[in-house]
Amino acid sequence: MTLILGIESSCDETAAAVVGDGCLVRSNIVASQDELHLTYGGVVPEIASRAHVERIFPVVQEAIKNADVQLDDIDAIAVGNRPGLIGSLLVGVAAAKALAWTLGKPLIAVDHVIAHLWAPHLSNESIEYPALGLVVSGGHTSLLLLEDPATVTCIGKTIDDAAGEAFDKAATILQLGWPGGQRIDNAASKGSPIHALPRPKTKGNRPDFSFSGLKTALLYGVRGNPKKVDGKSVFPNNANDLSGQEINDWAASFQLAAVDSIINGLHNALSNNTVRCVVAGGGVLANSLLRTKLQATAETFQIKVHLPQSTYCVDNAAMIAGFGYYLFTNGHCDSLNITASPRGIAS
Ligand code: KG4
Ligand code: ZN
Repeated sequence: MTLILGIESSCDETAAAVVGDGCLVRSNIVASQDELHLTYGGVVPEIASRAHVERIFPVVQEAIKNADVQLDDIDAIAVGNRPGLIGSLLVGVAAAKALAWTLGKPLIAVDHVIAHLWAPHLSNESIEYPALGLVVSGGHTSLLLLEDPATVTCIGKTIDDAAGEAFDKAATILQLGWPGGQRIDNAASKGSPIHALPRPKTKGNRPDFSFSGLKTALLYGVRGNPKKVDGKSVFPNNANDLSGQEINDWAASFQLAAVDSIINGLHNALSNNTVRCVVAGGGVLANSLLRTKLQATAETFQIKVHLPQSTYCVDNAAMIAGFGYYLFTNGHCDSLNITASPRGIAS
């Protein structure tokens, strides 16, 4: 069995995993930094990179221990080196290089967004290509054509906020806390989508996405139209003024509009491209309504839709190790000169 050690540090999760033959997850350690960023209502890059420095080697050690292997048993080291927060990425890249050099093991640089689309492979699903890839996460909302897992063309993406970012901002407007996706999901399950919110469309035929208009419509719906007072915009209302049921109804209305926007883009791409399946990944795939609607897409288009297990939706290193295995076994290997980049194939 070929064992790959994966390392992930692109945003605020410090993660390491050992995966056998691309799909057998032997260990999957994720150290979340949520509590460090909570008071700021979003990821603070400097805090994130400092926390990665403290956590990276303990997390790698735990991944090796939980996999019940020795570092020497590893065949190659894969690291997410793009896209993401540059200071965060550099910590994982430096750790991976140090391990590759000291152990004399091959190093493989992995695009984090493309790796999200490896997540369904971790459930041992057999995926047929060409496939249409849908990545919906905190930093990205992209539609990708995959000739194979590594030959990728971006055919659509968000022109403003990412879907996960919109969920996070909606939760802030509704004063549900951060990170917001799961909180909106929970509130929506107790509410009804009684408010008509827009499903913003972009100009042209490309299946691009836009979420900032939806977020603003929610803001004005919840807090009313702002008025200028002493040159400042002041909202007449606050989410505090709403009952629990009213908050839940707004959450359900927002969630339905956001999920419809994602599904509309996907249907546009499916109508204009010939593919054998849909493969999806990213934190927002944990959303219950999105998962239900993607199953409906499978029936409407008579196409297989591969979804990741919820553990592998949000950032993790098993997807990095799994995709690293694909690259490694297809002759791909990087030098110790690799660096990190804030941009990737789909951004
Ligand atoms: O993939 P991910 O861990 O990070 C990036 O690569 O960006 O995705 C994190 C995002 C966050 O914005 C979070 O609010 C969102 O995924 N998320 C959800 C749910 N669970 C996590 N969004 C909607 N519904 C959920 N259940
Ligand atoms: Zn991600």
